[in-house]
Amino acid sequence: MIVAIDGPSGAGKSTVAKAVARTLGFSCLDTGAMYRAIAWLACAQGISLDDNEALGELAQRAQIAFEHEAGDPLPRRVLIDGQDVTEAIRTAEIDRAVSPVSAAPAVREALVAQQQRIGRAGNYVVEGRDIGTVVFPEAAVKVFLTASPEERAHRRVRQNVDRGIGSIDYDEVLADIIRRDDYDSHRATSPLKPASDAHELDSTGLYIEQIISQICDLAHQAS
Ligand code: DC
Repeated sequence: MIVAIDGPSGAGKSTVAKAVARTLGFSCLDTGAMYRAIAWLACAQGISLDDNEALGELAQRAQIAFEHEAGDPLPRRVLIDGQDVTEAIRTAEIDRAVSPVSAAPAVREALVAQQQRIGRAGNYVVEGRDIGTVVFPEAAVKVFLTASPEERAHRRVRQNVDRGIGSIDYDEVLADIIRRDDYDSHRATSPLKPASDAHELDSTGLYIEQIISQICDLAHQAS
């Protein structure tokens, strides 16, 4: 079974997806981390971020792997071509670089195929922007998770403080969230939008636990 969780940056998708996967005993796939890993490699190799063809070749050839600890279906580390980029893909530089990289149609084509291969191998909670619309339109449960930009910026700052990486300046984080929402929603290929049959959940002012239990209920109803 696939549980698809889409929505804008900072809506709490990662936290919710991990908790839902743990509760249901599913694996978890963070597709944003895949786009970030390609953006990191493109920057490391000096590839122009508007070169669709070169970025597509990179995405076809690069090996992205999620490393697990024994018995844990939730990945701990992200590797690209054997290099551990778990922290390196969360910097402000990659926050900026990932927008043009994820808008490149050749990159999306390569990564969507990989995501479909991974997800079809088992029970997965998959989080991203186009999971319910493009990657797994047949998903048993589709959720579009959102929250106000201000709430998302507060959450992202708290997360960055906890992790010790990324910006902790609220105004900078809010500006980046608004910029990425606009970019993700208006790009030509797979723009961010809810699937027509998605459950739209707004987490503004709600405890994340309430969202998690609503999604687990939907998954139980679908099984
Ligand atoms: O979820 P995130 O912030 O880590 O995602 C990083 C970027 O990748 C974000 O700017 C949108 C893009 N993305 C996408 O276009 N499609 C996905 N399925 C996942 C992420």
